[in-house]
Amino acid sequence: MTASDNGQARRDRLVHRQYEDLPYPPRDPADERKRLITGSPSHLAEIDHYVFGGRRDLSSPLNVLIAGGGTGDGTIMLAQQLAWESQALGTPAAQVTYLDLSAASMAVAQTRAEARGLDNIRFLQGSLLDVAGLAPGPYDYIDCCGVLHHLEDPAAGLAALMSVLKPDGGMGLMVYGALGRTGVYPVQNALRALSPEGLPPDERVATARTLLASLPESNWLKRNTLVADHITAGDPGLFDLFLHSRDRAYTVPQVAALVEGAGLALTGFVEPVNYDPAIYLTDTDLAAKAQALPWLDRCALAENLGGTIKTHSFYVVPSNRAGGLPPSPDSQTTVPVIRDGNHAELAKGLAGRKRIQVDLNGVKHRFDLPEGAAAVLAQIDGRRSLDAIHKGLGLDWFVFRQRFDRLYAVLHALNILLIRRAG
Ligand SMILES: C[S@@+](CC[C@H](N)C(=O)[O-])C[C@H]1O[C@@H](n2cnc3c(N)ncnc32)[C@H](O)[C@@H]1O
Repeated sequence: MTASDNGQARRDRLVHRQYEDLPYPPRDPADERKRLITGSPSHLAEIDHYVFGGRRDLSSPLNVLIAGGGTGDGTIMLAQQLAWESQALGTPAAQVTYLDLSAASMAVAQTRAEARGLDNIRFLQGSLLDVAGLAPGPYDYIDCCGVLHHLEDPAAGLAALMSVLKPDGGMGLMVYGALGRTGVYPVQNALRALSPEGLPPDERVATARTLLASLPESNWLKRNTLVADHITAGDPGLFDLFLHSRDRAYTVPQVAALVEGAGLALTGFVEPVNYDPAIYLTDTDLAAKAQALPWLDRCALAENLGGTIKTHSFYVVPSNRAGGLPPSPDSQTTVPVIRDGNHAELAKGLAGRKRIQVDLNGVKHRFDLPEGAAAVLAQIDGRRSLDAIHKGLGLDWFVFRQRFDRLYAVLHALNILLIRRAG
């Protein structure tokens, strides 16, 4: 059967057309003056932790590919973080290659880069399936966020990316989560019946808005208050959510199968706390049973219990080098890093607190903090090692380690505290 026989060529055309008509996510380049959008995957501190185990060679410039870069969120974040790093350290500038099918999306990303004065990005229009011919790299790091699930064959997309990855590199990926998107696919199906794909986009958006306003209370989308892109991201958000001509969603075991099939291994989901069943299990026997499971089974259990994971963001490396990843704070040379560099602010917020309360997808969770948490946090500047911090605090090493390990368990799970190695 040829591509056009089974409708693939038509879906390819529709996907391309959607992102030309409605670049997603919608971004105004003028906002670059006000803020840098950061997120996961591909925050530099996360890459250092989950891909390089805290041992990235800072003197050697990273070669990065952003596959399906859209309107530029991942590209701008990482290119900016790398530019700041090379300015601060006086090291050679890292290079970021942006690749996307959509010329309209690429124009937004380019204007954002210009607004920031970033000159470390190469912009290319094309399909990631053709990356080996268009921009063969090889790359130390590849970002592919929210793209694989829109391909006819996501495994072929991942294989194309794998073919341009250095053996000692890694990737940050995001695909939709099946449970957190409960209710999305029945609405997509209903809209295919009520507003066929060939109609003009604005007419389809209008039909979708009419339908959404009249859904019965029993509809699963009405019950899933976590899905909100159609409310927060305008017409592009609504189209991407309900009128896309091709998307699929993954459970944790399906993510693992996709990754393993490409010869890759998972090094972590972000934020880890959402993949920890312990946050849902108050019964001690059940909690102990969950704790005894292998890591991926625990992640799958948490997904099934919480039901809130709308997207899976995760890091992968070639499977032969997954040992020791993610790193743990197991030696005096470990350098704890606050992901967003705001250690003073965090220390102030935690001063005198025995626990913190965090809202995770609408559910409140409490985490116990060790004694002296704020004092330890105040010392974490991304340069001092655990050895230097414990000496600075005047604490016995074993007392310090107990406190630090508890603090690390809580703040790593919340994606606040990561690791680098000294030297
Ligand atoms: C949902 S957007 C995500 C954009 C961006 N990665 C982000 O997270 O903000 C999906 C993007 O993937 C692009 N895309 C879809 N299929 C592609 C392909 N085969 N090769 C390259 N880009 C593709 C679309 O044009 C669109 O810009």
